[in-house]
Amino acid sequence: MIASWLMSSRHAVVLTGAGMSTESGLPDFRSEKTGLWTRFNPQQLASTYALEHHRQAFIEFYQYRIRTLQACRPHEGHMILADWQRHGLIQEIVTQNVDGFHQQAGSHHVIELHGSLRTVHCQRCGNTFNSIVYLEQRFTCECGGFLRPSVVLFGEMLPEQALEQAWQAAQTADVLIVLGSSLQVSPANQLPLIAKRNGAKIAIVNWEPTELDGIADVVIHKRKIGDVLREINKEWKARDGR
Ligand code: APR
Repeated sequence: MIASWLMSSRHAVVLTGAGMSTESGLPDFRSEKTGLWTRFNPQQLASTYALEHHRQAFIEFYQYRIRTLQACRPHEGHMILADWQRHGLIQEIVTQNVDGFHQQAGSHHVIELHGSLRTVHCQRCGNTFNSIVYLEQRFTCECGGFLRPSVVLFGEMLPEQALEQAWQAAQTADVLIVLGSSLQVSPANQLPLIAKRNGAKIAIVNWEPTELDGIADVVIHKRKIGDVLREINKEWKARDGR
């Protein structure tokens, strides 16, 4: 079904969450036992408050996340999405993820709603560095400012341009596919609603039920995203005589 949607769509958008990267070895946030927020307190570690008042714990938490990220790679699902983009099956990927895996897999037009853990930037002068500096114990810019990860912290606004682009994509989409998100965090979870209001077909592929299953035309639970993408890819290639 989804393969035929994609083949006949004018403007297909994919919205990914942390469930897109668990098969790469990165934990998601809310899965029982393994989710990051079931093991760490985001308000104490990933918030503007932590940045200002728990600086050492903040640094150690992001060293842990950057180290984990360095050990992981995009999986076949990321490659399939990049291939679909190359063949014009999908136009944009809006991601809540900060791992940069879509770009590493070859995707363009990736809208990073929550920033990127690939870089850190100086709070004073704005200079940007590869986040590997955190593993080299480097936390201060030449100008003396603190180097913080370029991710959106709890309590911060989302990057204006990314938000605008994501809104635009959702309004233009005639197909929107959610991959691996519990859809509990706003404003990302508004995107399927906007697309739906504009008449788009909605598919949600997520291990567990989500808050927006009720508005979706297709819902796939209890199946790994990698397997679902391989299956859709196979169907597209068969239909397309590839
Ligand atoms: N296949 C299918 N679904 C999966 C897989 C998989 N391999 N792995 C995990 N999932 C599902 C989980 O069941 C879960 O419902 O992915 C979903 C991920 O949801 P969350 O952990 O809530 O992650 P996400 O929706 O991306 O969180 C949004 O919250 O804390 C913030 O900034 C953080 O970007 C994040 C945002």
